[in-house]
Amino acid sequence: MRVLVTGGAGFIGANFVHSTIAAYPEAEVTVLDKLTYAGNPASIEGLERVELVVGDIADADTVDPLVKDADIVVNFAAESHNDNSLRDPYPFIRTNIEGTFRILEAVRRHGTRLHHISTDEVYGDLEIGEPRKFQPGDPYIPSSPYSSSKGASDLLVRAWVRSFGIEATISNCSNNYGPYQHIEKFIPRTVTNLIDGIRPRLYGTGEQVRDWIHVLDHNTAVWDIIHKGRIGETYLIGADGELSNLDVTKLILAEFGREPDDFDHVADRPGHDQRYAIDNSKLVEETGWEPHFKDFSAGLHDTVEWYKTHEEWWRPQKEAVEAKYAKQGQ
Ligand code: NAD
Ligand code: DAU
Repeated sequence: MRVLVTGGAGFIGANFVHSTIAAYPEAEVTVLDKLTYAGNPASIEGLERVELVVGDIADADTVDPLVKDADIVVNFAAESHNDNSLRDPYPFIRTNIEGTFRILEAVRRHGTRLHHISTDEVYGDLEIGEPRKFQPGDPYIPSSPYSSSKGASDLLVRAWVRSFGIEATISNCSNNYGPYQHIEKFIPRTVTNLIDGIRPRLYGTGEQVRDWIHVLDHNTAVWDIIHKGRIGETYLIGADGELSNLDVTKLILAEFGREPDDFDHVADRPGHDQRYAIDNSKLVEETGWEPHFKDFSAGLHDTVEWYKTHEEWWRPQKEAVEAKYAKQGQ
């Protein structure tokens, strides 16, 4: 089985490469990654049966032969950070929309199976406290340049399935946590701040809710969809992990033996989505998937330990990331 993993030097893609190599002894993995600031070759270094090709998914000449040689393409490559998209949207348009278009055209030409990785943010947000969760058929009402570019990419995939008959599935997942996540993101930023003795920064009130899932559970769901999902369908991936940012901050502070109010409120994110929550019943009913990490505190503890013991992986980026946030008053 030849698997092309785009964005495989990023957070979720790198974890996917590790678990694919471990679970499928017959798999040969090619990673196509542009190695932007978010891609780190160290995350997949030394793995057997893994080849890294440094290149851009928006470059047709790079993408075409790799798609031709693959049995399946799993498209993780994206610009992924909402805050960056508010400062400079163009890379999001180019990679997330044009890049997906290039992959779709290659898939159409060569008849390769595609699984497209997307986000729950395409559905906008929910009210804090309401019982409703996102459903696969909900309308797309994204809030940020990032989430709208991901929504656009999903719509392209759907159109290529219907008009050109490509074999593709889509998954929209909630917030991931775990090893190899870039330290610009909330949990690793907070953890590495505490390692450095810096107080955590909470945007606005901190009452916003995210639906946390361990990255390894996201990736087992992706393989279940590849094996058992129906072509053309969208599956929502989530593990019933709703928590406010304030509660996550307090749990991380407790990991460091610090007081629950030992953090700073900082400038809020413009257009900040209030709450995400996933109804995963379609995924569970059709594939039998279930999450392994059901206790967020235990998964968080492992993640904190990973950052404590892998300082060489994140340290080179810490100063620049914090300088960028400082400029935004965050
Ligand atoms: P990430 O930013 O950690 O990694 C993205 C990777 O894509 C990096 O290695 C980067 O170098 C690469 N990349 C960027 N532009 C590229 C291009 N033009 N060509 C080739 N490679 C390129 O992101 P992540 O958090 O691992 O997210 C992976 C995917 O999962 C994205 O599609 C994202 O929208 C989606 N997603 C993320 C989450 C989450 O919580 N992180 C949740 C749901 C969905
Ligand atoms: O829902 C899935 C999405 O989850 C993915 O599509 C995105 O790629 C991924 O980045 C993530 O988006 P969020 O914007 O929810 O993640 P982020 O880690 O940036 O922020 C999580 C929450 O924490 C959000 O409400 C903003 C807040 N926050 C973030 C940072 C970096 C803080 O309060 N303080 C911070 O320092």
